[in-house]
Amino acid sequence: MIETSDFSFDDRIVTTQHIDEDTAIESGLRPTTLAEYIGQDKVKQNLAVYIQAAKQREGTLDHVLLYGPPGLGKTTLSGIIAKEMGVDLRITTGPAIERPGDLAALLTNLSPGDVLFIDEIHRLSRAVEEILYPALEDHAIDIIVGKGPSARSIRVDLPEFTLVGATTRAGQLSAPLRDRFGIVLRLELYTPEQLSDIVRRSAQILNIPCALDGALELARRSRGTPRIANRLLKRVRDFADVLGNGEINEVIARTALDRLEIDELGLDSNDRRMLDMIIQGYGGGPVGLETLASALGEEAVTLEDVCEPYLMQLGFLSRTPRGRCATQRAYAHLGYTWPGQGGDGGQLPLVGDP
Ligand code: ADE
Repeated sequence: MIETSDFSFDDRIVTTQHIDEDTAIESGLRPTTLAEYIGQDKVKQNLAVYIQAAKQREGTLDHVLLYGPPGLGKTTLSGIIAKEMGVDLRITTGPAIERPGDLAALLTNLSPGDVLFIDEIHRLSRAVEEILYPALEDHAIDIIVGKGPSARSIRVDLPEFTLVGATTRAGQLSAPLRDRFGIVLRLELYTPEQLSDIVRRSAQILNIPCALDGALELARRSRGTPRIANRLLKRVRDFADVLGNGEINEVIARTALDRLEIDELGLDSNDRRMLDMIIQGYGGGPVGLETLASALGEEAVTLEDVCEPYLMQLGFLSRTPRGRCATQRAYAHLGYTWPGQGGDGGQLPLVGDP
């Protein structure tokens, strides 16, 4: 059945979107050093080398681009970079920097060595990007003074600083901006074991009794995303307090997550709706992203950033040049019979196809 729903992707408890409650949750839970940070081992190991090298040279860390699905800890890592370098952190977002003057004000107020974190950096306007290029390369900005024929360009020197840019997909960035990052790091979805460690660490900080099996059950259903795991931890705690003895164990976690309609693999009704639509509405695919998005009444970018990374990691969705396909595993998970090669799906999807 294809369900129509007035429940938007942003309302759901497993949204990777940052919501206000997260700020409060995350502020106390964020690790502040690389040693405390769980997972992303390759990123951590390389970053540790770059930080140590910059410190040994008494220099500034090169500009860093962090990319990957939302909720994986890009802001947290920027804080860690600043702390490990022993400098201050300034945080802003691409859409907040509306005019070139906004960026000029930010840059001229930096102290030597500071880390400037720009989230959603792909959303900077072209005019703002133009200011950023000389700032990144020559530590200077060109400010236009006056108007008309008497307008002059004045070069203002800036202190050396590190830009940490974050984006959900590096491909969304303009090539000139991408080329100015010396360090490019891709964050990956976390494994259930890593997420379980994160849940146990958070539970300890929040004083929530949490058994190993409870943490793992919660982790398995958190779509590889710490932000979701930490949010679910708070909801499951409510069930543990009301239905149990306050401790999160496997039974309580399972009960709570079933009640939240998050299935044993972490899919919620919107993920299932997307797969249902591909299977029932489009014979299993291929179906173009835009077509799928309008059939579901969602933004293509939401499907691409929020649903697809996890569905692809599970091997439920493949991307082919002709569109999205549901895989045999997705059919099995949703209880449909796989039509087989040459069946309704038209083409046998290749799991992990780019
Ligand atoms: N909280 C959120 N992300 C985390 C991580 N990667 N390690 C430890 N705690 C976290």
